[in-house]
Amino acid sequence: MKIFKKASELEPNLVSIKDKGQSIGLVLTMGNLHDGHLSLIREAQLHNEFVICSIFINPTQFNNENDFNSYPKTIDEDISKLENIGCNALFLPDIQEIYPKGLAKKKIVNNFRNILCDKFRPGHFDGVTTVVDLFFNMIKPTNSYFGEKDFQQVKIIQDLVKINHHNIKIIQCPSVRDKTGMSLSSRNSKFSNDQLKIFDVLGNKIKEHINLLKQNEINNLDQLKIEFLQNNINKIDYLEIRNENNLEITKNYSEARLFIALYIGEIRIIDNFKLY
Ligand code: PAF
Repeated sequence: MKIFKKASELEPNLVSIKDKGQSIGLVLTMGNLHDGHLSLIREAQLHNEFVICSIFINPTQFNNENDFNSYPKTIDEDISKLENIGCNALFLPDIQEIYPKGLAKKKIVNNFRNILCDKFRPGHFDGVTTVVDLFFNMIKPTNSYFGEKDFQQVKIIQDLVKINHHNIKIIQCPSVRDKTGMSLSSRNSKFSNDQLKIFDVLGNKIKEHINLLKQNEINNLDQLKIEFLQNNINKIDYLEIRNENNLEITKNYSEARLFIALYIGEIRIIDNFKLY
């Protein structure tokens, strides 16, 4: 696998692939790769001749310095995983390469804002769209693959592509889930043993309540909230049922998902679950 640290070194390679009429699949990541990321790479490999992954922990999308500094970094393991899976290239820029004029972000997308994570992490999505826009301009892939765990992020990136006229197809891919049904996440690698136990309880409680909601045996999330609080989850950002197309609150479950964001200790967990 070729590793590129500079966009100027990457560009001639990408041009020669495009000149051959081949398609480029891009998977953007912040590293600490798990099976969720690898499933995005596999999906990209199915539909593109050339697959490139990027690893860049983007400072402008973090709400505080501590969270940014403590984000898990496992670059050697990540490179081995990418080599094993047969990824063609890794783009591994440093901060200076991506933000040569200093850290800055701008608001590009106005839809799907002021709700869900945007309400609790102001500016986060401006950091995400700023960096994704930069990557799209540098790499100009044919297709780019994003996991549904970050559902609001996918919606906002789909809008970004329209607003900035990127000729890129955004492919939304289902989460890879653990045994209790929770989506895999890089942040989960930071759990202590006790926190892992709480996470398992959380997964089982959610699964139980999703089944009750689907069978119309309950029609609200009050009991689930109580059970979270009884199980050491003391900070819940949101627990809401929204339509998966427009992200509006709904009581009609035919196109709805349960969206959650909560904390185990200092670790923030977000996930969403189909209700149909
Ligand atoms: O989903 C992520 O890991 C990040 O938000 C992304 C898309 C790589 C942008 O930094």
